[in-house]
Amino acid sequence: MTPISALRWLCGALVLCLLGLVGWLFWPAPTMAVPERQADTASPMAMTATIERGRYLSVLGNCQGCHSLPGQAPYAGGTPIATPYGTVFGPNLTPSAQGLGGWSAGDFWRALHHGQAPDGRWLNPAFPYTHTTHIGRDDSDSLFAYLQTLLPNETPNRPNEMRWPYNTQAALKVWRALYFTPGQPSAAVTVQANEIERGRQLVEGLAHCSACHTPRDRLGGLISAKALSGATMPNGWYAPSLLDPQEAGVQGWALNDVVHLLRDGKSGHHTAIGPMAEVVAQSLQHWNEADLHAVAHYLIALPRQSSAPPKQASQAVTNRALGQRVYEQHCATCHGDQGQGFLLADGRVAYPPLAGNRAVTLATPANLLRIVQEGGFGLPKAGHPHPFGMPPFQMTLDDNTMAALLTYIRESWGNTGTVVQPLDIHQLNNPHGR
Ligand code: HEC
Ligand code: HEC
Ligand code: HEC
Repeated sequence: MTPISALRWLCGALVLCLLGLVGWLFWPAPTMAVPERQADTASPMAMTATIERGRYLSVLGNCQGCHSLPGQAPYAGGTPIATPYGTVFGPNLTPSAQGLGGWSAGDFWRALHHGQAPDGRWLNPAFPYTHTTHIGRDDSDSLFAYLQTLLPNETPNRPNEMRWPYNTQAALKVWRALYFTPGQPSAAVTVQANEIERGRQLVEGLAHCSACHTPRDRLGGLISAKALSGATMPNGWYAPSLLDPQEAGVQGWALNDVVHLLRDGKSGHHTAIGPMAEVVAQSLQHWNEADLHAVAHYLIALPRQSSAPPKQASQAVTNRALGQRVYEQHCATCHGDQGQGFLLADGRVAYPPLAGNRAVTLATPANLLRIVQEGGFGLPKAGHPHPFGMPPFQMTLDDNTMAALLTYIRESWGNTGTVVQPLDIHQLNNPHGR
């Protein structure tokens, strides 16, 4: 072969490859074949049990949290989910023409297991089908049976607002090729047989704890080698490492303390805040004892791994006297002049202590900043319907004052957190460099 003809041959091969790639990208996805199963003609009693099982599974998976808006009909959709590439809206799951009205149990399984809509459209992985893919067909059918008993609601779905090219089916195709393998539903283990394995299935599967607590790469794929080691969420909150006892790890804890943390959102005197408070309120507080125990056993048995050492901050910029002044003016009435918080006579926490609180001294001050900016309410619970609240300080404090205040809290009363600079506040408020 002469050099020229070799070059021609190479160019030809390249063009063919390119054409092949483009063809693959834009070729409509075939709809995954799924077995339709015999409709359940069992007794009404068995049907009631299936629906109740489905309802409980929807609580484990917190389906409602992403498919409802506060104050609107449950499962009517419209829920905004922030991603680094734009906003996706949880669709209507009620049995109406706008929702899952015309769906079969097989269509539903295709969505949960393969991440594909009945018309062949690939779904956006903001829907954690990377996790629901691990649940079994029976559980999927139960969930579907339950959703079909909801009141039909005609709210139309809101189109997703993703930036190009992330809004294309071609992009989802590439993403799936890189990051998605449909689960091999493991035989559902009974709690008695193996609690830790059942806990792992919940954390990685239906309860999708890893969707928040596992870091993602630049394209939003979960980095499985760093599973559960802590991750910054698109909304700026940091889901701390479940491997590091300095962060959210519970290795070495008593089982009951972990169950208390999961069910009531309380650890020591720390209260779950932000997105974790929502997980507790919408999901964990309604779990049954056996599943709470399974997850607690799994979390306790996770390997310990310390997170990256906090960066060494320079000492110069932050004004400690200012921090103390602001704390005394705005915070001490509730959290105490020594950061000791305020407990009620029966031992319940009215205002959480900030001294010795690991949520306060995390390497990143992201969550500390968010709670001070946004304020919050403890969980409304039976017998305590009006929890104590904290006002938002978003408008009151500029970056400089905020940095001084957070530094003061992180360094006082025996706390050993790092200094927070005004630039840190600016960056945490503008995560995409805008
Ligand atoms: C973290 C948020 C989140 C959670 C939790 C979640 N979903 Fe979704 N779900 C979404 C989003 C967002 C979409 C839309 C994806 C898209 O538009 O491509 C979706 C889509 C779906 C669809 C496809 C609907 C359609 O019209 O195409 C089904 C079915 C579904 N979810 C069921 C469930 C069930 C069942 C659960 C609980 C086990 C659940 N989801 C939990 C966010 C979530
Ligand atoms: C009116 C009383 C009140 C004031 C004033 C107040 N807080 Fe709070 N704070 C609370 C309550 C109640 C909670 C628990 C909120 C929750 O569970 O969401 C809380 C939670 C917190 C937390 C999270 C603690 C944890 O364990 O997760 C931090 C940090 C915090 N406050 C800091 C501050 C700072 C800094 C100020 C002053 C700028 C302040 N608070 C002012 C009542 C108050
Ligand atoms: C929507 C995102 C999200 C999901 C889902 C989620 N977490 Fe979290 N989690 C967070 C954030 C953010 C924090 C930090 C806020 C805080 O300290 O309360 C946190 C904190 C924690 C903590 C530390 C609490 C403390 O008091 O020290 C534990 C333990 C934890 N999560 C376990 C879990 C488990 C188990 C699941 C699954 C059942 C789960 N999380 C699901 C976001 C999430």
